[in-house]
Amino acid sequence: MPKIDLIHGDSLLVLPTLPANSFDVLITDPPAGIAHMDAAWDDFGGRSGFIAFIHKIFTEVFRVLKPGAWGLVWSLPRSAHWTATGIEEAGFEIRDFISHVTATGLNKHPCSLKPAQESWWLIRKPAPSAERIQPLNLEECRAQGRIPSNFSLEHTDQCVENGIREIKGQKTRERTPDPISKTGWGFKRQGGIVTYPTDEDGYEVLPKWICAPGCPVDALNLQVDDGDRFFFVAKPDKEERHLGCQDLYWQRTPGLTGLESRVSYTPTDFVTWAALPDDQKARGNIHLTPKPIALLRHFVKLICPPLTDNRSCQVLDCFGGSGSTALACELEGVSATLIERDETFVLISQKRLDALRNRMKLAATRAGAVPSEAAPSESVTPPPAQASLLPNTSLTEDRFRQLVRRSAKKH
Ligand SMILES: C[S@@+](CC[C@H](N)C(=O)[O-])C[C@H]1O[C@@H](n2cnc3c(N)ncnc32)[C@H](O)[C@@H]1O
Repeated sequence: MPKIDLIHGDSLLVLPTLPANSFDVLITDPPAGIAHMDAAWDDFGGRSGFIAFIHKIFTEVFRVLKPGAWGLVWSLPRSAHWTATGIEEAGFEIRDFISHVTATGLNKHPCSLKPAQESWWLIRKPAPSAERIQPLNLEECRAQGRIPSNFSLEHTDQCVENGIREIKGQKTRERTPDPISKTGWGFKRQGGIVTYPTDEDGYEVLPKWICAPGCPVDALNLQVDDGDRFFFVAKPDKEERHLGCQDLYWQRTPGLTGLESRVSYTPTDFVTWAALPDDQKARGNIHLTPKPIALLRHFVKLICPPLTDNRSCQVLDCFGGSGSTALACELEGVSATLIERDETFVLISQKRLDALRNRMKLAATRAGAVPSEAAPSESVTPPPAQASLLPNTSLTEDRFRQLVRRSAKKH
């Protein structure tokens, strides 16, 4: 049975208490070390202080991961090389770099570009022999039939998923499991055939999206046919962010600088909250940077070893934040340990996780998978399906017509 542990504490102190070689993978979203928006928690006194911090944490992460284990570690373009230096000095191999294109950031300074992408380092703890290395789950993570790339895109929250469409699939290639090769898969022309998810007529069924202006998936589709064959996720919306946290009320106290990161939040009750001026009211998940659950689920699927002997994969996240990794692991049925030093965020993570579990139980009850007594007594609005925590808003008439015209031109 998968288990999620939310630990309140500083990873510098908690990691040394965990047993060596006990985790299968790492998925984590550390600070960027640039005093982002003047935030104290992101200020390590510059390059050398930040690299020393990452080095120290990742030396412990190295110890607790199993040999050959994979990891995905978030970074910002400006300090990605510092993050990677600290990780590499702790003993990890840097294997790749996944760019996640969002296109939705705002530039906050005349000397900075509009932030449109974030990066995830794909890392691996070396193993004494090739057999100990777990291949990536490429087959399970095919993006619209293709091997997953080191590039992912995010729809904007105005984009709408609207039915399905069919496109010609790729040719089937012959491949065979190969225990000798490092990856575990050879390309010898013998043995098993890996089929792509096409119908008999060679066509694939894909979701159809109507994209809002500025959507990066749409922009790529204008450049190349079928740009949306790259993995893409819907932007996390308010519902995903605040899941289970609607009853958390905060008094917002701006800092002297007026920057969001200097704002402090004091928990309060509804009656006190209701009497506050609007600019002092905050409600729900107050974490500044929750990551998209769909992206984290993709990562879990990509790097977790398959389950064996009823043993679940153990995921470590040593910068837990508001618990998005825990939610992704719960949805994927794998175990996770999250460490977060801010008590407030541990509480928020627990509430998000509880609400998700309630929804999953309710959805399972509706589908007839578990007896109705297992349904939660509190009233929650269930999503239509487990994965659809990500509703979309509607599109303007003009944009719709523009898309229809473009699609008519293409065909
Ligand atoms: C970028 S956020 C993670 C956000 C998370 N991925 C989510 O989706 O909510 C980084 C988190 O690491 C926490 N943190 C920073 N240093 C830490 C440390 N030494 N030990 C544990 N947590 C730490 C911060 O409080 C912050 O919540």
